[in-house]
Amino acid sequence: MIDSSKRAIDLENKYGAHNYHPLPVVLSKGEGIYVWDVEGKKYFDYLSAYSAVNQGHCHPKIISCLSDQAKKLTLTSRAFYNDTLGEYEKFITEYFKYDKVLPMNTGVEGGETANKIARKWGYEVKGIEENKAKIIFVNGNFWGRTLAAISTSDDPLSYKGFGPYMPGYETIPYNDLDALEESFKDKNVCAFMVEPIQGEAGVVVPDEGYLSGVRTLCDKYNVLFIADEVQTGIGRTGKMLATDYEDARPDILILGKALSGGVLPVSAVLADDEIMMCIRPGEHGSTFGGNPLACVVAKSALEVVKEENLVENAFLRGHQFRDRLKNLGEESELVKKIRGKGLLNAIVIDDDEDGSTAWDICMKMKDNGLIAKPTHGNIIRFAPPLVISETEVDESCEIIEQSIKEFSKSN
Ligand SMILES: Cc1ncc(COP(=O)(O)O)c(C=O)c1O
Repeated sequence: MIDSSKRAIDLENKYGAHNYHPLPVVLSKGEGIYVWDVEGKKYFDYLSAYSAVNQGHCHPKIISCLSDQAKKLTLTSRAFYNDTLGEYEKFITEYFKYDKVLPMNTGVEGGETANKIARKWGYEVKGIEENKAKIIFVNGNFWGRTLAAISTSDDPLSYKGFGPYMPGYETIPYNDLDALEESFKDKNVCAFMVEPIQGEAGVVVPDEGYLSGVRTLCDKYNVLFIADEVQTGIGRTGKMLATDYEDARPDILILGKALSGGVLPVSAVLADDEIMMCIRPGEHGSTFGGNPLACVVAKSALEVVKEENLVENAFLRGHQFRDRLKNLGEESELVKKIRGKGLLNAIVIDDDEDGSTAWDICMKMKDNGLIAKPTHGNIIRFAPPLVISETEVDESCEIIEQSIKEFSKSN
């Protein structure tokens, strides 16, 4: 490894907590779908910062809004009004067709906020006895790293060693409407929180009809449907929201990641008045949530998605990507499955327990100019920025195919 990369990695190892296991590539520049390492080598970015950079790296319009606003006013806290928040709130609620928004920063804060709103609604509207409210989750869920989030997790890497866990949660199998209906028979259930496609679990796509079935059951049992679209939202799956594929409007919608085009942490929880007005002054908040910089950045990030037809592009390029790699699934014994929607896709590698083959394939792709990362050992997620063109999808598929072939030959 060349000196400057080595130095950056050594510094992180020596002075940073070891809570990640990055691919050994040190990035210093990004533009559109590409990133460059410190030695100047160019890569296709097929992770997009876990789908936060849907609009492409350093999008000129978003960066220009960021820099203009940064010179005027960045943070007021919510102790005072500011001249950007109301405009942004009007814009985003009209964009996603909800009465109200509650602005936060990270995705997991969005999830925590949705949980709090749902519990409050459970007590005030549904009439659940104090401190008895329950929220249903599914196996394989991932919504972040806070104590509440890991209390719902069935991944030992997430929860083990961090107990005691938060009460009031129950998990059932994903993609199982019978189990969902059974769980809803408990009158203390106030909400069901789910990812429309499970991202971190390895791009697990539920059966057609699952999401509309969730909607129907939530209506039948007076339970709130919370959709965690932090990863799937904002065009990623080829619709503006992954729940748009079915008749499945969530009662509470959580957005994050690409809401800022990957520029700064911005998340949002959207709901209608009957639900959102259960939260009153002093009951929830965040110093940075709804700050002026975040408001202008998020507004322009959402404008870019429409102006550049990124939803349609994700839909078309996603089909192109899966069609092309289908051949690979037929030709290579290493590739067990290709799945996904829009530009949220994954290949499942026929791997040993420790997932070392998927890792080694990612290393090979890196050498060939494309970066992606395994998730859950033997699954490689492919999620480029949504601004990718037809030619670029072809070029990057070439690298993926070539890397898998080279890997198969050398092993
Ligand atoms: C579906 C989903 N929800 C929530 C989160 C948490 O977001 P953040 O890391 O911004 O807290 C993630 C992060 O990967 C996610 O994929």
